[in-house]
Amino acid sequence: MVDPAFFDEAVSIVGPEHVLRDADVVAGYTVDWTGRFSGSSPGVLRPGSTEQVAALVELCRRHGVALALQGGATSLSGGTVPLEGEVVCSLVRLWDLEVDALSGQASAGAGVRIEALQSAAERAGWAYGVDLASRASATVGGTVATNAGGIRVLRHGDTRAQLLGVSAVLGSGETVSHMSGLVKDNTGYHLPSLLCGSEGTLGVLTEARLRLVRRSPERVVALLALRDAHAAIEAASDLRRGLASLSAVELFFAPGLALVRGHTGLPDPFERPHGAYLLVEASADDDPTTELSEAVDALGGVEEVAVALDATRAGELWRYREAHTEAINRRGTPHKLDVAVPMGAIAQFVDRVPGVVRDVAPGAEVWLFGHAADGNVHVNVTGVAPEDDALDAAVFELASGLGGSVSAEHGIGIAKRKWLHLSRSPAELAVFGAIKSALDPDGVLNPSVLLGG
Ligand code: MLT
Ligand code: ZN
Repeated sequence: MVDPAFFDEAVSIVGPEHVLRDADVVAGYTVDWTGRFSGSSPGVLRPGSTEQVAALVELCRRHGVALALQGGATSLSGGTVPLEGEVVCSLVRLWDLEVDALSGQASAGAGVRIEALQSAAERAGWAYGVDLASRASATVGGTVATNAGGIRVLRHGDTRAQLLGVSAVLGSGETVSHMSGLVKDNTGYHLPSLLCGSEGTLGVLTEARLRLVRRSPERVVALLALRDAHAAIEAASDLRRGLASLSAVELFFAPGLALVRGHTGLPDPFERPHGAYLLVEASADDDPTTELSEAVDALGGVEEVAVALDATRAGELWRYREAHTEAINRRGTPHKLDVAVPMGAIAQFVDRVPGVVRDVAPGAEVWLFGHAADGNVHVNVTGVAPEDDALDAAVFELASGLGGSVSAEHGIGIAKRKWLHLSRSPAELAVFGAIKSALDPDGVLNPSVLLGG
């Protein structure tokens, strides 16, 4: 039970219009995007500056109140859910955005949407290197907190690779800020790297200094139909090696394609189903169509190819891949198991997953897709109760047994806490605990996430 005086003081910090107490409004902040995880909260706070965040963290420490941090609330591992009745702290009002065209960098508030950052970078002649299907809702703060990956990791790296500096309020109440954007700056521990991927358990990120990348204005998209997952992974590797302009290579399979077609009404891209599909994008200064065609001609195991000749068709081809998330959610509340597997084991993993799931959940439906060049397979399972996690365990153990990780890019959140030990040794977990105690000694930040539970 939170002391009413807590909310009175919160009002004096952020203003009455930014302390939400209406139960119906607050309820909207307590369920994750997939609908699998939910909690409850006595209220939502919406700070508008780093100083206000610092005052709120101090207030939480005094009152023994914990915060559940939220950006665009697009977490796919329950990372924004107030599972234990935490007060929600929404950071969407931190929307300052400034592009420094000279250095090719941006300073972005935690609440800036990725799409807005991408557009601002483009207007200045640059691009932002991270892109993901939830770009219209996902925020800078959330993507830094989870070290989001997405569809361009093979070209530009993950969010951590873009991060030059942060401003953040630690759980201790201290504000740390290192936003000069120096590309070379070897002056000790790299706090941005530590906070990136810490899922809001160490500090509240309020601003990030991000590197921008060169724009590649000419783009071509193709959909390849391949014999099977083995051929698809071989092809993805060959494309990485041989196609300098490669900017995305995404994997999916016939059941997912059929589901997406049913959801979107898109036509079948090919006359018959195939064992695996690769969505391939190349982008460069000059039209990369010839280069892409030559690279595709040299691949083995390709059965059919559809090339987009205009932007509309390119958008359609992308939709076959990106609409997987919404089509699966429409089918039923999914178990979203976002794993990474060494490249040499992906095809084996893909072949074995349906049987492993069927053994523990006979009525389940398995949907597989992912980022072929990153070894990142999204295993989605519908037709199983949200709380029944036997299949989660089976899939994580399979991935881990093949040398993989229980989270490639979605983070641990609350969904995977039970299996963190499959990816991290006792010694590593002890270091995590020591860092958490040092930076958030009272446990006021995201106590249910990552290490909690
Ligand atoms: C994607 O790759 O589309 C995203 O990670 C979302 C998802 O896994 O559903
Ligand atoms: Zn993904």
